[in-house]
Amino acid sequence: MSQPDTLSAMAVDVLTTADGRTKARKTKAYAKTWQASREGNTPLAIGASAPPLTPARPSAPELRSPRDMPKRKPGSPAGRQAMLHAIAHIELNAVDLHWDIIARYAHIPMPMGFYDDWVRAASEEANHFDLLCDCLEAMDSHYGALPAHAGMWRAAEDTADDLLGRLAIVPMVLEARGLDVTPGMITLFEKAGEAQTVAALKIIYAEEVGHVAYGSKWFNFCCGRENIDPKDVFHGLVRRYFKGGLKPPFNEEKRADAGLPPDFYWPLVDD
Ligand SMILES: [Fe+2]
Ligand SMILES: [Fe+2]
Repeated sequence: MSQPDTLSAMAVDVLTTADGRTKARKTKAYAKTWQASREGNTPLAIGASAPPLTPARPSAPELRSPRDMPKRKPGSPAGRQAMLHAIAHIELNAVDLHWDIIARYAHIPMPMGFYDDWVRAASEEANHFDLLCDCLEAMDSHYGALPAHAGMWRAAEDTADDLLGRLAIVPMVLEARGLDVTPGMITLFEKAGEAQTVAALKIIYAEEVGHVAYGSKWFNFCCGRENIDPKDVFHGLVRRYFKGGLKPPFNEEKRADAGLPPDFYWPLVDD
């Protein structure tokens, strides 16, 4: 197959690729192509390829609604494997989410740094997915061996016409939630002596701060361009697109590193 010649065509190629490992491999290769074009001062065109409403997915895992997921004890070996499988599923969705934001809003003029950031984030998510697949395979399992949550693309569909809504919900709510829960997962796998998983989760934890930071950076940029107050706009968008409120405890330190101040998220806690 010939190499796509615009960034949005690369995004659409990844989004319409079903197999997870292939999605990850293409993502890393396209990220290198984009970065080389930027370093050589000959950036690829963004283009105008339209992304699918939902990305292609492998035939396994079977997607189930959260209430139909098998219950496993979190501390047991089977529970840890299920947790790893769930995180791998999140990472694969994250690869698609970052390519989707590149292609879906390509008609809105943005500085080149916007594309640099999401290409880099997509490439890091591809690596997270690969690392977790390696961990599962080292345990004689694989991505696809267990059912996975359906509905993870809901936030993307809901915000398909709303770049500010997408930035508010995906990096600034969902990926920020990852910062809150990852330290506890690292402790759980450390206690179980699973060194390969601990190493993978530490890479993920460090890099996810950057993804949340890209979200708040571009959210603030877009609000500033419209001369509207980012905090009020954020509260309105989260109440509109994210049902159920935010759940403490929050990782206030890492959220601060990522440019998310407490007055953005505390008022969104349901009491
Ligand atoms: Fe990730
Ligand atoms: Fe991420």
